[in-house]
Amino acid sequence: MEAGLLSPFGYHFNMRPTVLHHLLLCSLCLAFYCLCHADEFLKSGSHEWKKLIMVHHWPTTVCKEIENECTHPPDYWTIHGLWPDKAEDCNGSWPFNLTEIEDLLPVMRKFWPDLIHPNRSRFWKHEWDKHGTCAAQLDSLNSEKKYFGTSLDLYKELDLNSMLQKLGIKPSLNYYQISDIKDALAGIYGVIPKIQCLPPKQDEKVQMLGQIELCLTKELELRNCTEPGELHLPRQEASGAGVAAFSSMLSVCEDGPAFYPPPDETKR
Ligand SMILES: *[C@@H]1O[C@H](CO)[C@@H](O)[C@H](O)[C@H]1NC(C)=O
Ligand SMILES: *[C@@H]1O[C@H](CO)[C@@H](O)[C@H](O)[C@H]1NC(C)=O
Ligand SMILES: *[C@@H]1O[C@H](CO)[C@@H](O)[C@H](O)[C@H]1NC(C)=O
Ligand SMILES: *[C@@H]1O[C@H](CO)[C@@H](O)[C@H](O)[C@H]1NC(C)=O
Repeated sequence: MEAGLLSPFGYHFNMRPTVLHHLLLCSLCLAFYCLCHADEFLKSGSHEWKKLIMVHHWPTTVCKEIENECTHPPDYWTIHGLWPDKAEDCNGSWPFNLTEIEDLLPVMRKFWPDLIHPNRSRFWKHEWDKHGTCAAQLDSLNSEKKYFGTSLDLYKELDLNSMLQKLGIKPSLNYYQISDIKDALAGIYGVIPKIQCLPPKQDEKVQMLGQIELCLTKELELRNCTEPGELHLPRQEASGAGVAAFSSMLSVCEDGPAFYPPPDETKR
């Protein structure tokens, strides 16, 4: 399309008035085209979003990647967050208040732990500020209590840990094929998940399983994580420290083998 728009500019010589006229029209089209796209950028800045992403991460991989004092990573998948796609930091005047979720804290510590600073609430504040304030556009998520409470409920309902167990997908020194994991999960949930890995480093042979994302509609029903034809654009999750920074090191897993590291592997 762009090539088509730009090709008339190849005719530098012998410009007759009609050609000039065409050029002018084309420039107008181009300007209009750009305006439309600028509009799309503005829209994404206005915090519109379409789906929610329930992000589970594998603590052993998080702890392997991030230099820290993760001493005993849980041996189950924990929550990273519930993220609206395409919207972040939607309401700077809605500060995180730990007291609001006081009665959820025991469950939060177990299933939504800050793996790096188990004793602090900074990770939850980050998730609230960046993602929760956007999710709060939905009535079902429009308070801190609802956002964290509903996320925990979804985590329990989706029950990724039991599903993986049932499928026989367990941490192992043998590698898994990413397509096998993906197909197995799609078979159980009826939707296509998104699986993210840490790419191999120089001294490693394979990518390492890091996050499993299941996507939901605004009605909190499961849906495919990608739509047909949708591009796998890398998500900008680079900001943030600690566990949040982990995300920026991940990318969608390549087809092929992946390492699903057993918890005690970190102790090597
Ligand atoms: C931001 O949060 C505050 C506090 O909850 C609320 O009063 C206000 O309406 C919110 N603003 C938007 C744009 O949602
Ligand atoms: C935090 O939430 C608690 C419980 O809802 C409330 O009593 C308290 O005033 C809130 N603190 C702030 C700073 O808003
Ligand atoms: C931090 O951990 C210590 C020891 O486990 C505990 O006594 C303390 O209450 C914790 N602090 C918070 C804020 O959870
Ligand atoms: C989800 O993806 C699968 C495989 O690409 C496709 O067959 C199915 O129609 C999709 N479902 C929806 C609701 O788009």
